[in-house]
Amino acid sequence: MDLHVSLDGRRELTAQIYLQVRAAILDGRLRPGEALPPTRELAAALSVSRNTANAAYEKLAAEGFLTSRVGVGTFVSDLPFHGGAEPEVPTSPLRPRPMWDGMPDPPDLSAMGTRYDFRPGMPDARSFPFATWRAMLSRQLRDSATRLGMYGEPMGHAGLRASIARHVGLSRAVRATAADVMVTAGVQQAVDLIARVMLAPGDVVAVEDPCYPPVKRLFQAMGVRLVGVPVDAEGLVVSQLPEDAKLVYTSPSHQFPLGYALSLSRRLALLAWADRVDAVIVEDDYDSEFRWTGRPVEPLHALDRTGRVVYVSSFSKVLLPTLRVGFCVAPPSLHAALRKAKHLADWHSASPVQGALAEFIDAGLLAGHLRKMRRVYRARRDRMAIAFDQDFTEHLEPITSAAGLHMTAWLRTDRPGEDAAIIARAREQDVAMHSMALCGVDRVPRQGFVFGYGLIATDDVEEGLRRMRSAFT
Ligand SMILES: Cc1ncc(COP(=O)(O)O)c(C=O)c1O
Repeated sequence: MDLHVSLDGRRELTAQIYLQVRAAILDGRLRPGEALPPTRELAAALSVSRNTANAAYEKLAAEGFLTSRVGVGTFVSDLPFHGGAEPEVPTSPLRPRPMWDGMPDPPDLSAMGTRYDFRPGMPDARSFPFATWRAMLSRQLRDSATRLGMYGEPMGHAGLRASIARHVGLSRAVRATAADVMVTAGVQQAVDLIARVMLAPGDVVAVEDPCYPPVKRLFQAMGVRLVGVPVDAEGLVVSQLPEDAKLVYTSPSHQFPLGYALSLSRRLALLAWADRVDAVIVEDDYDSEFRWTGRPVEPLHALDRTGRVVYVSSFSKVLLPTLRVGFCVAPPSLHAALRKAKHLADWHSASPVQGALAEFIDAGLLAGHLRKMRRVYRARRDRMAIAFDQDFTEHLEPITSAAGLHMTAWLRTDRPGEDAAIIARAREQDVAMHSMALCGVDRVPRQGFVFGYGLIATDDVEEGLRRMRSAFT
């Protein structure tokens, strides 16, 4: 235990040490059984004689606060009045900016133990190759021992940047060199850094309405002027983009949450709009590795001939969200500023994780894991699609979506509060569901649900839907 003692002047040093250790024991900062630093160490740290420190410990031992065990050390006694009471913290006058009071809390993951969990945004961790990952991570810690004492490159691990450039080049036809790739803490940080580099307070930012809530809130927290632009079956309604927007955030391959793909004519219109109004397009391609029907939709980035698109994506869906690894592919004109912004945010993402991920991708394991997970998720998606068509038609209007790890459906009724009531009844049946309401920007979206199939076990899908169905009555 590193014990902080501060001495005032050079008088009554023993008493000062005695009082501070005693106070730490009484207010629970030092707990029963905890070891105190040896008197030699404490004396050296405080620049006092060892006798001074000894005398303080002896007095505390004599009063029963400390117990010495010869050859082992000095410990806090097991005293009956230790209630583990919290140290008293003075009421602070410090208050966050009012904006933070209005900001919703991070999502409540307390339903995590729910057996029939249909919430979106999470992959199946049960199928992750943990043993292989552990071996790769240990190798990083062993082989890079000397390098790990040094800060890394803000743009990311050189090997991982090259692996990502190859991966997106092959799987998504995104033309990128390793130099164009910046490794980030998920899509969330990629968007944050792009916004810091591109926007000034008060600038207009356009997002799809409804939109992915964490990114919507990120922009709200930045003090920009957020405009929600409607989405229809062809994706973002490009003709309604504000002319003064400096940035548009969009998920064209699989709009979150509605699941539509942006049509080719809208893609071309969006690129032309960005060029005309001098805006940047942030393309979130978060889950298009999972495609179920039709031909893969090319990312906007692949159509961009004027360097307007910054492509962002993540390993949260294809591997695990807890790795916190995502990336952006940016044009060279932004590299230097992004590098500085990443350095100021957190210097760089964790090096051992980046090194292990590079090895994972290069060994072909990402491609293999994707092949396996496509089979797993397809089975769940097919079962859900059939059930929605057969058993929920009276209550739900499903939105057909060709990709990703979630599907969406509108509620047929417009009775206010019905979505929340269904979610509450489902929870009683051990079923977790997600409301579309959280995704609204400028408009309250029509009532509906976003159903994920990353978490629920395939064998539980039917029983989960049966229980969910009973919540609709
Ligand atoms: C639209 C969208 N973008 C990105 C992500 C992933 O974010 P991150 O990489 O920050 O985990 C998700 C996850 O749910 C998402 O739904």
